Amino acid sequence: MKVLVIGKGGREHALCWSFAKSPNVKEVICAPGSDGIRSVARCVPIEETEHEAIVHLVKDELIDLVVIGPEAPLVAGLADELKEEGIRVFGPSKQAAQIEGSKEFAKDLMEKYEIPTGAYRVFDSLTPAIEYVKEQGAPIVVKADGLAAGKGVVVAMSEEEAVTALEQILDEKQFGEAGARVVIEEFLEGEECSLMAFMNGETVVPMVVAQDHKRAFDGDRGPNTGGMGAYSPVPHISKEAIKQAEQTIVRKMARALKQENCSFTGILYAGLMMTSDGPKVIEFNARFGDPEAQVVLPRLITPLDEVIFSVLKHEEIDVEWCEETVIGVVLASDGYPGSYDTRVPIDSSVFKQQSGPFFHAGTRELDGEWMTNGGRVGIVTGMDRSLEQAQKSVYTVLQDAQTDGLFYRSDIGSRAISASSPSASSEGKKQ
Ligand code: AMP
Ligand code: GLY
Repeated sequence: MKVLVIGKGGREHALCWSFAKSPNVKEVICAPGSDGIRSVARCVPIEETEHEAIVHLVKDELIDLVVIGPEAPLVAGLADELKEEGIRVFGPSKQAAQIEGSKEFAKDLMEKYEIPTGAYRVFDSLTPAIEYVKEQGAPIVVKADGLAAGKGVVVAMSEEEAVTALEQILDEKQFGEAGARVVIEEFLEGEECSLMAFMNGETVVPMVVAQDHKRAFDGDRGPNTGGMGAYSPVPHISKEAIKQAEQTIVRKMARALKQENCSFTGILYAGLMMTSDGPKVIEFNARFGDPEAQVVLPRLITPLDEVIFSVLKHEEIDVEWCEETVIGVVLASDGYPGSYDTRVPIDSSVFKQQSGPFFHAGTRELDGEWMTNGGRVGIVTGMDRSLEQAQKSVYTVLQDAQTDGLFYRSDIGSRAISASSPSASSEGKKQ
């Protein structure tokens, strides 16, 4: 079969790489793809916003399955348009993608269907929002309602910080229309984890979990980013807690969306906080996580297309995952998530597959030279029987490379390693 992946980032590289491994897939096409993705897919220069051109491409190329990587085309209704043309697409409708596109929509649904999440209120003007912050006290979390590439969230440790964030979002329009409304949310404490599931209505096939690292710098300091690295499995989160989240959160949300007449087909991503009260939702996304896809898909043994086709037929198949740990460390441009230079040369030794592939995100090739072309440049992955070994293999690659103008976190995976060593875990809790 022929598969089309929409997008051009690290997640889409991992999707194309995964499809390319399948014995059932004759060709993977990626639109628009990137110079890095070209090693596993034929890239065609059609942007994710060019819906009509995508429809033509699918018809001309007789494509059997379309998978949409990023949230923006989903929220813009690309899956609906493809479906109307009779094209097989694995991605939610515009309406169902609101689970990610509007935090207010997601929170209201969770409240209505009693899906565990932090207490919250929604505001569209500054004065009552500030009053609410003063009433609740800090720490407290301020979130732009709409899409902001993972950067629209401020975990405020003081009231002043929350007020500044509100001023920037509501008054100074830091995120434009995406910040016309804000959600102010209870601060949740615990271990974070990302639980993704293949979904089609009430048919749910959960994936193995991953842990992302959202803050820019070591020790979970600095601003929130789209994600600086991840690993899977997450050994210090119990299987029982994950099972509980599958039941009380993911399956419940599948039923809720169906009952609301916006049945969900595609990947539902639940960002969870494992609190002392059980798992609670931080956010839902309507697609694979980035960088979670880059550490979860390499563990998938069942061909990706087989999982998707089964779910489309409403079969909850037993998916096979390998037991090994995959860790991925993001190489980012200095300045990210703020402004950064592009065209910074990249030492291509980071691309060489060690124990796992390099997934390109913001790179381009010009006359045989690789250079940066985005905030997150790519992700170096490692795969091994132990997290320690996987971590070592990734950091060996990065330490041996020339990374001027770039940065990466040096502690991806360390939380899990210290949680499993008894002397370090008490120290970990104190921080
Ligand atoms: P989000 O974009 O909603 O996933 O938020 C980005 C990051 O902010 C999350 O990965 C958490 O680390 C943090 N965060 C978001 N909401 C909360 C919350 N209610 N309590 C504590 N931390 C949060
Ligand atoms: N890594 C978080 C996200 O994909 O939203």
